[in-house]
This record gives sequence, C-alpha cells and structure tokens, in this order.
Amino acid sequence: MQRVNGPNIAEHAMALILTLTRQINAYLANQSDGTWARGPQQKLMDLEGHTMLVVGLGGIGTAIAERAHAFGMHVIATRNSGHKGSSFVDYVGVADELPKLIGQADIVVNVTPLTSETTGLFNAAMFERMKPSAYFINVGRGKSVVTDDLLAALKTGRIAGAGLDVVDPEPLPKDHPLWHASNVVISPHVAGDSELKLDRAWLVMRENLRRYVAGDRLFSVVDVKRGY
Ligand SMILES: NC(=O)c1ccc[n+]([C@@H]2O[C@H](COP(=O)([O-])OP(=O)(O)OC[C@H]3O[C@@H](n4cnc5c(N)ncnc54)[C@H](OP(=O)(O)O)[C@@H]3O)[C@@H](O)[C@H]2O)c1
Repeated sequence: MQRVNGPNIAEHAMALILTLTRQINAYLANQSDGTWARGPQQKLMDLEGHTMLVVGLGGIGTAIAERAHAFGMHVIATRNSGHKGSSFVDYVGVADELPKLIGQADIVVNVTPLTSETTGLFNAAMFERMKPSAYFINVGRGKSVVTDDLLAALKTGRIAGAGLDVVDPEPLPKDHPLWHASNVVISPHVAGDSELKLDRAWLVMRENLRRYVAGDRLFSVVDVKRGY
C-alpha cells in the first residue's frame, strides 16, 4: 500500500507542523479554561522561506514535500536508492547524508519505513545536529526515534518541539513523560486514517490482481531483503 496514504498523512504532518509553528497547542490549552493570552508571539514561525527536510522521500514523503513547497518552503530530502526526486524538492540526498542535511532544516519530517537502518535513527547525536529552533515531526514509525533521547532534547531546549503521530512505545502509557514534554503534540497513530484511503487501496489491489493474472509487473512489491 505504498503511496496510498500520501494525501492523508501529508495533511496530518502539515497539521502537526502548523499546530507547533502557530502555537495552536498553547491556545487550545488556554481555551479549555477561557484564558485570552496572546503569548510570546515573537516565537511564531512562518513556514515560507524556511527549510523542510523530508527523511524518506517515497510516496508519502513526496506528498509532504509537495505541500511544504506550496507553503513556500525550501524542501530537501533523503531516500535510500539515489538522488532522484520531484521538481519541488531542491536537493535529494542518500540515507547517509542525513547527519549533514539535518542541520540545515527548520522542520525535520521522518517518514521512513522501519528497517534495521532506520531503527533508532533519531538519537541524541542526531538531535544534537539539529538547529535549536527546529521542529521534529514523526509520521513514520515510533521505533525510528530513541524516545529518551527525544525527551532529553526537548527538556534541554536542544530542539524547539515535536509533532508525533507515532511513538515508542505504543500505546503511550498514561504516565509516560512524553505526554507532558514541552512543546509536544501527540496524535495516537491516526495519520493513516482517511475517508478516501480504502478507495485508493482497492484501486491498487484491483490493478495488481489484473497484472498478476496477466503475468505483468506488480506495483508496490515488498523487497524482503531491503525490509520495505
Ligand atoms: N503514521 C501512520 O499512520 C502511517 C501509515 C502508513 C505508513 N506509515 C509509514 O510511512 C512509511 C512510508 O510509506 P510510503 O508509502 O511513503 O512508502 P515508500 O513509498 O516505500 O517510501 C519509503 C521511502 O523511504 C526511503 N527510505 C528507506 N530507507 C531509508 C533510509 N535509511 N533513509 C532515508 N530514506 C529511506 C525509501 O527510499 P527509496 O525510494 O530510495 O527506496 C522510500 O523513498 C511506511 O513504511 C510506514 O512506516 C505511517
């Protein structure tokens, strides 16, 4: 079901990003007890002119990049197999360029599959390379992040905040400190929910069945050795 989740997860990623950059999380908390507080507005960040790094420029990553570009962002990315990407991505690096590229980004979005290479990819050393003003967004898999290292980066102000649809562990226990870390927005692994996803999935399924019967090449074949 490669790419099938592109539109909905891209919208969810943008929702997490805008919640943080426009401080909607703080205003929602104020709204719950009727507090009119404008807050530290010098911290509000425009997306326009800032840089997004998409880690995992596949089906979903490309949909996120397209939306970020529409917001006026510079988009850079990494993928596993080479340097090819869409015209709205300024630079596509390979996986091991991540440590170099991550320091250029104001928004870092992880949307890689979970493989031996991406397990624990975002650890203390990686957060150390991010701009202190940058936000980390995870819509890929929770285990790509070392949760204790993310918590430490948030606690020390090493990064500005995080928007997480996926976490490790899932479900996140009620008393887990990540719920209360500063500037964190968490959704319970729902970015994949969508009213149109099933239609898209059936389209791929029907076409793959037709191709299978005809002996043609199939879409979205998992490479077991590669892990996705
Ligand atoms: N939050 C949710 O509810 C939800 C729902 C569905 C999926 N997901 C996650 O989203 C992932 C991506 O889905 P997709 O449909 O976009 O799959 P996809 O089209 O296969 O894209 C995966 C991309 O990740 C790249 N990649 C693999 N290993 C990498 C590495 N070490 N460093 C950088 N890039 C790497 C691949 O590179 P190449 O193209 O060069 O091979 C590919 O571009 C899924 O595997 C899943 O973990 C989350």
